[in-house]
Amino acid sequence: MQNARIGVLGSGDVGRVLAAGFVGLGHEVKAGSRDPQKLQAWADAAGTQASTGTFEEAARFGDILVLAMLGSAAESAIRLGGIDHFDGKVVIDATNPLSFAPGKPPALFVGHTDSLGEQIQRLVPKAKVVKCFNTVGNANMINPQFPGGPPDMFLCGNDEDAKKIVGQICRHFGWGVIDIGGIEGSRHLEPMCLVWVLHGMKTSGWSHAFEMLHR
Ligand SMILES: NC(=O)c1ccc[n+]([C@@H]2O[C@H](COP(=O)([O-])OP(=O)(O)OC[C@H]3O[C@@H](n4cnc5c(N)ncnc54)[C@H](OP(=O)(O)O)[C@@H]3O)[C@@H](O)[C@H]2O)c1
Repeated sequence: MQNARIGVLGSGDVGRVLAAGFVGLGHEVKAGSRDPQKLQAWADAAGTQASTGTFEEAARFGDILVLAMLGSAAESAIRLGGIDHFDGKVVIDATNPLSFAPGKPPALFVGHTDSLGEQIQRLVPKAKVVKCFNTVGNANMINPQFPGGPPDMFLCGNDEDAKKIVGQICRHFGWGVIDIGGIEGSRHLEPMCLVWVLHGMKTSGWSHAFEMLHR
Protein backbone atom coordinates (compact mmCIF):
# COMPACT_ATOMS: atom_id res chain seq x y z
CA MET A 1 0.00 0.00 0.00
CA GLN A 2 1.30 3.45 -0.95
CA ASN A 3 1.70 5.94 1.84
CA ALA A 4 -1.81 6.85 2.90
CA ARG A 5 -3.64 9.22 5.21
CA ILE A 6 -4.97 7.36 8.22
CA GLY A 7 -7.66 8.77 10.52
CA VAL A 8 -7.85 7.10 13.92
CA LEU A 9 -10.98 7.69 16.00
CA GLY A 10 -9.94 6.94 19.56
CA SER A 11 -7.50 8.29 22.12
CA GLY A 12 -7.14 5.20 24.32
CA ASP A 13 -4.40 2.58 24.25
CA VAL A 14 -5.65 0.99 21.03
CA GLY A 15 -5.94 4.28 19.18
CA ARG A 16 -2.46 5.36 20.22
CA VAL A 17 -0.81 1.99 19.52
CA LEU A 18 -2.37 1.57 16.08
CA ALA A 19 -1.77 5.21 15.19
CA ALA A 20 1.91 4.80 16.12
CA GLY A 21 2.03 1.59 14.11
CA PHE A 22 0.77 3.38 11.01
CA VAL A 23 3.29 6.20 11.52
CA GLY A 24 5.96 3.49 11.74
CA LEU A 25 4.88 2.20 8.32
CA GLY A 26 5.40 5.70 6.90
CA HIS A 27 1.77 6.82 6.76
CA GLU A 28 0.41 10.21 7.76
CA VAL A 29 -1.87 9.81 10.78
CA LYS A 30 -4.42 12.04 12.48
CA ALA A 31 -5.61 10.68 15.81
CA GLY A 32 -8.99 11.95 16.96
CA SER A 33 -10.71 12.57 20.27
CA ARG A 34 -13.52 14.69 21.66
CA ASP A 35 -10.64 16.41 23.44
CA PRO A 36 -7.67 16.42 21.01
CA GLN A 37 -5.45 18.09 23.59
CA LYS A 38 -5.15 14.79 25.42
CA LEU A 39 -3.38 13.34 22.36
CA GLN A 40 -0.87 16.15 21.98
CA ALA A 41 1.91 14.49 23.99
CA TRP A 42 1.37 11.32 21.95
CA ALA A 43 1.60 13.26 18.67
CA ASP A 44 4.73 15.13 19.80
CA ALA A 45 6.41 11.81 20.58
CA ALA A 46 5.17 10.12 17.40
CA GLY A 47 6.84 12.60 15.05
CA THR A 48 6.02 14.87 12.16
CA GLN A 49 3.75 12.35 10.42
CA ALA A 50 1.38 12.42 13.42
CA SER A 51 -1.27 15.00 14.23
CA THR A 52 -4.37 15.29 16.38
CA GLY A 53 -7.89 16.51 15.82
CA THR A 54 -11.51 16.02 16.68
CA PHE A 55 -13.31 12.85 15.62
CA GLU A 56 -14.68 14.88 12.72
CA GLU A 57 -11.24 16.10 11.65
CA ALA A 58 -9.76 12.60 11.89
CA ALA A 59 -12.64 11.08 9.90
CA ARG A 60 -12.37 13.77 7.21
CA PHE A 61 -8.57 13.41 7.03
CA GLY A 62 -8.26 9.67 6.59
CA ASP A 63 -8.38 7.69 3.36
CA ILE A 64 -8.42 4.73 5.71
CA LEU A 65 -10.17 5.07 9.08
CA VAL A 66 -9.61 3.15 12.31
CA LEU A 67 -12.34 2.77 14.92
CA ALA A 68 -10.76 2.57 18.38
CA MET A 69 -13.45 3.90 20.68
CA LEU A 70 -15.33 2.38 23.59
CA GLY A 71 -17.75 -0.11 22.04
CA SER A 72 -20.84 1.35 23.70
CA ALA A 73 -19.84 4.79 22.35
CA ALA A 74 -19.14 3.66 18.78
CA GLU A 75 -22.34 5.07 17.29
CA SER A 76 -21.95 8.36 19.12
CA ALA A 77 -18.30 8.74 18.10
CA ILE A 78 -19.01 7.81 14.46
CA ARG A 79 -21.82 10.38 14.33
CA LEU A 80 -19.40 12.96 15.75
CA GLY A 81 -17.02 11.92 12.96
CA GLY A 82 -19.73 12.61 10.38
CA ILE A 83 -21.38 9.72 8.56
CA ASP A 84 -20.51 11.15 5.13
CA HIS A 85 -16.80 11.12 5.96
CA PHE A 86 -16.92 7.31 5.98
CA ASP A 87 -18.31 7.00 2.46
CA GLY A 88 -16.23 4.75 0.21
CA LYS A 89 -13.45 4.34 2.78
CA VAL A 90 -11.84 1.26 4.26
CA VAL A 91 -12.80 1.31 7.96
CA ILE A 92 -10.82 -0.89 10.34
CA ASP A 93 -13.08 -1.70 13.26
CA ALA A 94 -11.09 -2.69 16.35
CA THR A 95 -13.97 -2.21 18.78
CA ASN A 96 -15.54 -4.77 21.06
CA PRO A 97 -19.08 -4.54 22.46
CA LEU A 98 -17.96 -5.06 26.03
CA SER A 99 -20.26 -4.38 28.94
CA PHE A 100 -18.96 -4.18 32.48
CA ALA A 101 -21.12 -4.63 35.56
CA PRO A 102 -19.61 -4.51 39.06
CA GLY A 103 -18.93 -7.98 40.43
CA LYS A 104 -19.77 -9.72 37.14
CA PRO A 105 -17.46 -11.14 34.48
CA PRO A 106 -17.13 -9.03 31.34
CA ALA A 107 -19.88 -9.68 28.78
CA LEU A 108 -20.98 -8.50 25.34
CA PHE A 109 -23.96 -6.17 24.89
CA VAL A 110 -24.73 -7.63 21.46
CA GLY A 111 -24.18 -11.11 20.04
CA HIS A 112 -25.39 -14.36 18.47
CA THR A 113 -27.71 -12.83 15.85
CA ASP A 114 -26.05 -9.44 15.47
CA SER A 115 -22.73 -7.79 16.33
CA LEU A 116 -21.15 -4.38 16.80
CA GLY A 117 -19.30 -4.84 13.51
CA GLU A 118 -22.62 -5.29 11.69
CA GLN A 119 -24.21 -2.37 13.55
CA ILE A 120 -21.33 -0.17 12.46
CA GLN A 121 -21.54 -1.37 8.84
CA ARG A 122 -25.28 -0.51 8.86
CA LEU A 123 -24.52 2.92 10.35
CA VAL A 124 -21.99 3.70 7.59
CA PRO A 125 -23.42 1.67 4.69
CA LYS A 126 -21.15 3.20 2.05
CA ALA A 127 -18.00 2.35 4.03
CA LYS A 128 -16.04 -0.90 3.71
CA VAL A 129 -15.90 -2.04 7.32
CA VAL A 130 -13.33 -4.68 8.24
CA LYS A 131 -13.41 -6.10 11.76
CA CYS A 132 -9.80 -6.52 12.84
CA PHE A 133 -7.42 -6.11 15.82
CA ASN A 134 -10.22 -6.88 18.30
CA THR A 135 -8.90 -10.33 19.28
CA VAL A 136 -5.64 -9.26 20.90
CA GLY A 137 -4.48 -6.82 23.58
CA ASN A 138 -3.00 -3.53 22.46
CA ALA A 139 0.46 -4.41 23.80
CA ASN A 140 0.83 -7.04 21.06
CA MET A 141 -0.94 -5.33 18.17
CA ILE A 142 2.26 -4.15 16.49
CA ASN A 143 5.18 -6.51 15.83
CA PRO A 144 3.94 -9.32 18.08
CA GLN A 145 6.89 -11.39 19.25
CA PHE A 146 6.12 -14.97 20.29
CA PRO A 147 8.46 -17.96 20.52
CA GLY A 148 6.24 -19.95 18.13
CA GLY A 149 6.35 -17.30 15.43
CA PRO A 150 3.76 -14.80 14.27
CA PRO A 151 0.23 -15.22 15.67
CA ASP A 152 -2.86 -14.85 13.48
CA MET A 153 -5.08 -11.81 13.13
CA PHE A 154 -8.66 -12.73 12.37
CA LEU A 155 -10.63 -10.35 10.20
CA CYS A 156 -13.95 -10.20 8.37
CA GLY A 157 -15.83 -7.79 6.16
CA ASN A 158 -17.99 -7.61 3.04
CA ASP A 159 -15.52 -5.98 0.65
CA GLU A 160 -12.80 -8.28 -0.67
CA ASP A 161 -10.48 -5.46 -1.76
CA ALA A 162 -10.79 -3.76 1.62
CA LYS A 163 -9.87 -7.03 3.34
CA LYS A 164 -6.84 -7.39 1.07
CA ILE A 165 -5.67 -3.91 2.11
CA VAL A 166 -6.25 -4.58 5.81
CA GLY A 167 -4.64 -8.00 5.52
CA GLN A 168 -1.56 -6.39 3.99
CA ILE A 169 -1.45 -3.90 6.88
CA CYS A 170 -1.65 -6.79 9.36
CA ARG A 171 1.24 -8.56 7.63
CA HIS A 172 3.31 -5.38 7.75
CA PHE A 173 2.54 -5.23 11.48
CA GLY A 174 3.88 -8.79 11.83
CA TRP A 175 0.73 -10.93 11.76
CA GLY A 176 -0.53 -13.94 9.90
CA VAL A 177 -4.03 -13.27 8.55
CA ILE A 178 -7.20 -15.35 8.72
CA ASP A 179 -10.18 -14.01 6.75
CA ILE A 180 -13.39 -15.62 8.05
CA GLY A 181 -15.79 -14.03 5.55
CA GLY A 182 -18.43 -11.28 5.65
CA ILE A 183 -18.95 -8.71 8.37
CA GLU A 184 -21.45 -11.04 10.10
CA GLY A 185 -18.33 -12.94 11.17
CA SER A 186 -18.05 -10.21 13.84
CA ARG A 187 -20.60 -12.30 15.76
CA HIS A 188 -17.78 -14.78 16.26
CA LEU A 189 -14.72 -12.51 16.43
CA GLU A 190 -16.20 -10.26 19.12
CA PRO A 191 -16.73 -13.15 21.59
CA MET A 192 -13.12 -14.19 20.91
CA CYS A 193 -12.08 -11.07 22.79
CA LEU A 194 -13.75 -12.54 25.87
CA VAL A 195 -11.76 -15.76 25.45
CA TRP A 196 -8.64 -13.62 25.32
CA VAL A 197 -9.70 -11.59 28.41
CA LEU A 198 -10.83 -14.59 30.49
CA HIS A 199 -7.57 -16.42 29.78
CA GLY A 200 -5.70 -13.31 30.90
CA MET A 201 -7.72 -13.08 34.11
CA LYS A 202 -7.15 -16.76 34.88
CA THR A 203 -3.41 -16.66 34.24
CA SER A 204 -2.76 -13.06 35.34
CA GLY A 205 -0.89 -12.61 32.10
CA TRP A 206 -1.70 -10.46 29.11
CA SER A 207 0.82 -11.56 26.50
CA HIS A 208 -1.09 -14.12 24.52
CA ALA A 209 -2.52 -14.23 21.04
CA PHE A 210 -4.42 -16.66 18.82
CA GLU A 211 -2.91 -18.82 16.11
CA MET A 212 -4.77 -21.11 13.68
CA LEU A 213 -2.84 -24.32 13.04
CA HIS A 214 -3.18 -26.14 9.71
CA ARG A 215 -1.87 -29.37 8.23
N1 LIG B 1 -7.52 -2.18 25.24
C1 LIG B 1 -7.20 -3.20 24.45
O1 LIG B 1 -6.11 -3.79 24.57
C2 LIG B 1 -8.17 -3.61 23.37
C3 LIG B 1 -7.84 -4.69 22.53
C4 LIG B 1 -8.68 -5.00 21.45
C5 LIG B 1 -9.84 -4.27 21.25
N2 LIG B 1 -10.14 -3.24 22.11
C6 LIG B 1 -11.33 -2.43 21.84
O2 LIG B 1 -10.83 -1.24 21.23
C7 LIG B 1 -11.62 -0.12 21.62
C8 LIG B 1 -10.73 0.94 22.26
O3 LIG B 1 -10.20 0.44 23.47
P1 LIG B 1 -9.22 1.31 24.40
O4 LIG B 1 -8.89 0.45 25.54
O5 LIG B 1 -8.14 1.90 23.58
O6 LIG B 1 -10.08 2.56 24.85
P2 LIG B 1 -11.55 2.79 25.46
O7 LIG B 1 -11.39 3.34 26.80
O8 LIG B 1 -12.39 1.56 25.28
O9 LIG B 1 -12.10 3.92 24.47
C9 LIG B 1 -11.56 5.20 24.49
C10 LIG B 1 -12.17 6.01 23.40
O10 LIG B 1 -13.61 5.95 23.45
C11 LIG B 1 -14.11 7.28 23.33
N3 LIG B 1 -15.37 7.44 24.05
C12 LIG B 1 -15.67 7.03 25.31
N4 LIG B 1 -16.93 7.42 25.64
C13 LIG B 1 -17.40 8.13 24.58
C14 LIG B 1 -18.63 8.78 24.28
N5 LIG B 1 -19.63 8.82 25.17
N6 LIG B 1 -18.78 9.37 23.07
C15 LIG B 1 -17.77 9.34 22.15
N7 LIG B 1 -16.59 8.73 22.37
C16 LIG B 1 -16.40 8.13 23.56
C17 LIG B 1 -13.05 8.14 23.98
O11 LIG B 1 -13.23 9.43 23.48
P3 LIG B 1 -12.30 10.67 23.95
O12 LIG B 1 -11.03 10.52 23.16
O13 LIG B 1 -13.08 11.85 23.54
O14 LIG B 1 -12.10 10.50 25.41
C18 LIG B 1 -11.78 7.48 23.52
O15 LIG B 1 -11.35 7.97 22.28
C19 LIG B 1 -12.70 -0.67 22.54
O16 LIG B 1 -13.87 -0.91 21.79
C20 LIG B 1 -12.10 -1.97 23.05
O17 LIG B 1 -13.07 -2.93 23.43
C21 LIG B 1 -9.34 -2.91 23.15
